[in-house]
Amino acid sequence: MRSDARMRIVTLVCAAAALTTAPGGVSCARIPTQTEADINVVTNTNADDLQKAKPVKFSYNDCGATKGDTVAFKSLSLTPSPIVWGENVTFSADVALKTALPASAGGDLSVSLTVKRRILGKEWVKMPCVDNVGSCKVTGLCAKLSKELPPSQPCPYGLPACRCPFAASEYDVPLTSLFVPVPPSLPSWLEDSSVYVEAIAHDESDGGKEVACLELYFSLSK
Ligand SMILES: *[C@@H]1O[C@H](CO)[C@@H](O)[C@H](O)[C@H]1NC(C)=O
Repeated sequence: MRSDARMRIVTLVCAAAALTTAPGGVSCARIPTQTEADINVVTNTNADDLQKAKPVKFSYNDCGATKGDTVAFKSLSLTPSPIVWGENVTFSADVALKTALPASAGGDLSVSLTVKRRILGKEWVKMPCVDNVGSCKVTGLCAKLSKELPPSQPCPYGLPACRCPFAASEYDVPLTSLFVPVPPSLPSWLEDSSVYVEAIAHDESDGGKEVACLELYFSLSK
C-alpha cells in the first residue's frame, strides 16, 4: 500500500498477533486481499468527514494459499466490529496443518508482523515496532508457547496441540467468547482505529521457510 511513509505515528501491537489468531463471530466469508480502494473509500477531502469514515469490518485473507504454505486458514470469524477494549470478543477458527511444524524436532517458529493503521478514514500507515508493539518480528514462538501453556495443562478449546511440535491436523475452534482486557499502557492510536495486520510465519528449523501467511482487517474501539 502506498501510504507508508506519510506519518510516523508511533506504535502498534504484537498483541495484535493474539487477535490475529483469535477470530470469531458472524459471517466471515473469505475475502480476497483488500486494498484501501476497497474499504470505505472516501473521496471527500474534508478532514472532519474523513475522520467519520466507518470502522473497517473484520475480514481475512489466507495469503499463503497460493504459495502452498503448510498452514491453511479455512475459516475465521471475529465479532463485534469494532472490538471494544474491556469487553468480550467472539471468535471461531478452522485451520489445517498439512505437515507437522516445526519440521525438525526441537526446531522453532517465528512470525513477522506488518501492522498498518488507517488514518483520516483512508490512508494506511505502517506502524513501526515500538515496545514490542507494531510491525515486529516475534522469534522463539515455541519457547513462548511452552511458557504460556505448560505441558502439564490441557490445550484450550480441545485443540489437538497448542505447543510445538504441532501435528499435521485440523485445528477447529468453535464459536468462543473471550474477554479483552484493557492493557495498562495502550498506545492512543490503538484506542480507536481500523487496523491491518499481515502475519507471516517461518520455520526456523527449515531454513526460515514460510509456512503461513495471514492478512487481517479489524477495528478497535475504547
Ligand atoms: C464474556 O466471556 C466470558 C468467557 O470468557 C463469559 O464467561 C461471559 O459470560 C461473557 N460475557 C458476556 C457479557 O457475554
